Amino acid sequence: MLEVNFDPFPELTTERLVLRKMKDADAEQFFKLRSNTEVMKHIGKKPMTLMNEAMDFIKMINDLLENNSGITWAMALKENPEKLIGTIGLWRLIKEHYRAEIGYMLLPEFWRKGLTNEAVLKVLDYGINELKLHSIEGRITPLNIASAKILENTGFIREAYFKEDFFFNGKFEDTAIYSLLSRNFRGEVL
Ligand SMILES: CC(C)(COP(=O)(O)OP(=O)(O)OC[C@H]1O[C@@H](n2cnc3c(N)ncnc32)[C@H](O)[C@@H]1OP(=O)(O)O)[C@@H](O)C(=O)NCCC(=O)NCCS
Repeated sequence: MLEVNFDPFPELTTERLVLRKMKDADAEQFFKLRSNTEVMKHIGKKPMTLMNEAMDFIKMINDLLENNSGITWAMALKENPEKLIGTIGLWRLIKEHYRAEIGYMLLPEFWRKGLTNEAVLKVLDYGINELKLHSIEGRITPLNIASAKILENTGFIREAYFKEDFFFNGKFEDTAIYSLLSRNFRGEVL
């Protein structure tokens, strides 16, 4: 069984980003992210409408962290490390199977600059080389072209496709499931 200890918190850096622990002071920026309809379009959850929801979510993230059952990093630019611009995490750790699911989101003003690719490569490196995961999963709606691109860029293979398995907003949507095996991770955009 995989043994996990997120204490001390593994802060990570990339060329342009700091990936750091989420804190209560991030609530305002986190709310901006999670209440944005463009950001939430393919997430399968309703956009937040109340600041309290952002505070509760941060608490939930930090509870998961304390229990060593999942980790989320705040994404921030190196030149402004206090200001959260996105989040990235390894959710749903399945310790028996050395597997986890990756998730990420970024404020639209920062889209299409390669920042998420950069963050994903670092988190995959951490997940595979430090946590010792054997595989990492990515689940997306196939309409999420940007997310599919990121997974493909970083070495994930689409292994499954479920038709209309997800009911949201009165509609049944498809899910594409991607996976990356640790031995196939190259550590660079392919
Ligand atoms: C998915 C998301 C995080 C991508 O962030 P980003 O920082 O803009 O992505 P990058 O700039 O690193 O781009 C990665 C790749 O996706 C492509 N891409 C990014 N946005 C795209 C878009 N809207 N349409 C098509 N391709 C897109 C880029 O061209 C790049 O591919 P390339 O390297 O071959 O040129 C961002 O669009 C987002 O926050 N979306 C809403 C939340 C979300 O859907 N999260 C994923 C849930 S599974």
